[in-house]
Order: sequence, then structure tokens, then C-alpha cells
Amino acid sequence: MSVKNLNELFVHTLKDVYYAERQLLKALPKMARKARSSPLRQLFEEHEAETREQIERLKQVFQLAGERAGGETCPAIEGILEEADELMDEIDDADTLDAAMIGAAQAAEHYEIARYGTLVAWAESLGMQEAVDVLRRTLAEEKDADAKLTRLAEDQLNERAR
Ligand SMILES: [Fe+2]
Repeated sequence: MSVKNLNELFVHTLKDVYYAERQLLKALPKMARKARSSPLRQLFEEHEAETREQIERLKQVFQLAGERAGGETCPAIEGILEEADELMDEIDDADTLDAAMIGAAQAAEHYEIARYGTLVAWAESLGMQEAVDVLRRTLAEEKDADAKLTRLAEDQLNERAR
């Protein structure tokens, strides 16, 4: 890979997050299935639907950048999801697993928040206002999903796991 300027870096990062979203879309149904808490299952299911939309939005941004939508392997999200998978295999107690899956989901959310935050800033620098708007919507959604996970953990699931 050779990245020569901000525009290319933007597209490269777009591919990275596109890959990450698609991996996440594959992982979420399993997490939903494994959740004991029904509000947690519901959050995972909701986020699966949101993720589908976020992938569509990324396709829009590719188009705005004059590029074909495509992914580039993102080792960061693979590591995060691998860890989540390990936890799901290793933890037998359902309440403990719920707490663990919230932690894992938040690691993924925070990764995405970092990526989308950077993409928004770069799109601004590049004068791509439409892309800024589209990416901001997703960034807000990710932050919201993260806040909902925090609330559920703190209001109920950490206590139950303890
Ligand atoms: Fe996402």
C-alpha cells in the first residue's frame, strides 16, 4: 500500500472501517444469541440493523470520494472480535458472559468512534461536506450505542454478574 496524501489516507481508512463494519455485522448475531439479558440481546439486534445502514452510508461516502466500495483487512477489529469469541467460549456463567460481551462490544464501539471521528475531521479538511454529514450521522449512532451499553451494564448487568 502506498498512501501519498490526505485524500488517499481518507480512502484507505474508509476501507478499513468498511471491513470492520462487515466483520461486526457477522459477529453481532452470535452475540445476540449468547446474551442472557433480553435488553442486551435487543441492543445487539438493534445495532445489527444500524450496522447494516452504516455500511450503506459508507458506500455513499466511497461514491462521494469517487472510489469503489471495498474493504481492506483491519487487524484491529479482528483482534477485538477474536477476544470476544474467546470470552464466549471460555465463560460458562451467563451473567458473567453478559458483562464480558458488553465490555467486548464497547471495545468495538470505541474503535469505530475513533475511526469515524478521524474520518469526519479528514473529510472536513478535504472540503467534502456531504461526506462529513453522512459520517457524522454514523458517529452519533456509535456514541449512542456505546452509551446504551454503559447504562445497561451500570444499571443491571454488572451487579448481576457480581
Ligand atoms: Fe458501526
